[in-house]
Amino acid sequence: MSLKQPCRSGIISRYREHLPISNKTPLISLNEGSTPLLHSPKLSSLLSAHVYLKYEGLNPTCSFKDRGMTMAISKAVEEGAKRILCASTGNTSASAAAYAARAGMQCVVLLPAGRIATGKMIQAYLYGARVIAIQGNFDDALRLVRQLGERHDFVVVNSTNPYRLEGQKTAAFEIIEELGEAPHLHLLPVGNAGNITAYWRGYSEFYRLGISQRLPLMLGVEASGAAPLYHGAPMDHPETLATAIRIGQPASWHGAMKAIEESSGCFDIVSDEEILKAQQWLAREEGVFAEPASVVPVALLLKYASATNPSSLRTNAIFRKLPAHPTVVLTLTGHGLKDPETASHSISPPLEVAPTLQEVLAHL
Ligand code: F0G
Repeated sequence: MSLKQPCRSGIISRYREHLPISNKTPLISLNEGSTPLLHSPKLSSLLSAHVYLKYEGLNPTCSFKDRGMTMAISKAVEEGAKRILCASTGNTSASAAAYAARAGMQCVVLLPAGRIATGKMIQAYLYGARVIAIQGNFDDALRLVRQLGERHDFVVVNSTNPYRLEGQKTAAFEIIEELGEAPHLHLLPVGNAGNITAYWRGYSEFYRLGISQRLPLMLGVEASGAAPLYHGAPMDHPETLATAIRIGQPASWHGAMKAIEESSGCFDIVSDEEILKAQQWLAREEGVFAEPASVVPVALLLKYASATNPSSLRTNAIFRKLPAHPTVVLTLTGHGLKDPETASHSISPPLEVAPTLQEVLAHL
């Protein structure tokens, strides 16, 4: 197989031979994928490693979900579906609504009432989805979606749809192609656990094909108030300000466990306070604005780098398995502008001054 140069023509065009599509599959794409792999000088020096940020917030609807949605919607159109349905903490619904609009399909989204970041809610409405707010959490919404999907003619486009993870695995392909090899360690936030399952599939496939010579250790990071995988048991009342990963019963539990076990990785956690600090740190130190759920791996690395007793963290055992100066990749799953309210906790209102040069100079 000849590797293609990065281009922005959508993941189905770029990775056609690695995806379950045929000549009959229509291409519903917004030119997703081919996102930047940014070197992070500050994290690299803090950890004596080569650290890269896979900036998935630069996808068409500003999250990694677009990679899976181009597949799910293209296949739904191929199968003659007219309506799609999903539960979401915000990003899946934004992406589903956009790709449904592109395909001319009806889209229904079930969201936990009052717990969706503004930008994501606006996206779902603007792309024309029918939005239903559930008085419950994401796990309640997904349960209802599963029931509706069984009884009615909806195609469910949550990550329980097998095509979603097929699309999302392409992020691992891009990383291998850009680095020339898989990283030693890959960290990503975990909510419903589809993405960690998809990355592991992507890394494993390229390894089996001989395109990469190693497999990374996988480190899944949860918010401490919504950490079912870390604790090894589902949670009834998950709570975190990182609303995208406020999930207590991950649908891809087994896929996530497989990724951790097969890669000899682990799950670790960070607090909401650490998440907010990491969001600000990443913006100020690296010029990258990512939403709260996206920065949980950054928060974990900052905590690890500054820990007085690093052996108290599960992450410590992972770093001890790595060679000197390892290559480390973090996925930044969504753009910071999706959730302006949470980010606004970190800023003070701008200073207002009279419109004179003197006044402005006085406040520089
Ligand atoms: N980061 C962001 C920004 C997300 O929106 C999500 C999940 C995750 C991380 C976790 O990924 O679920 O594959 O483990 N968002 C889903 C949604 C649940 O509905 O948008 P995961």
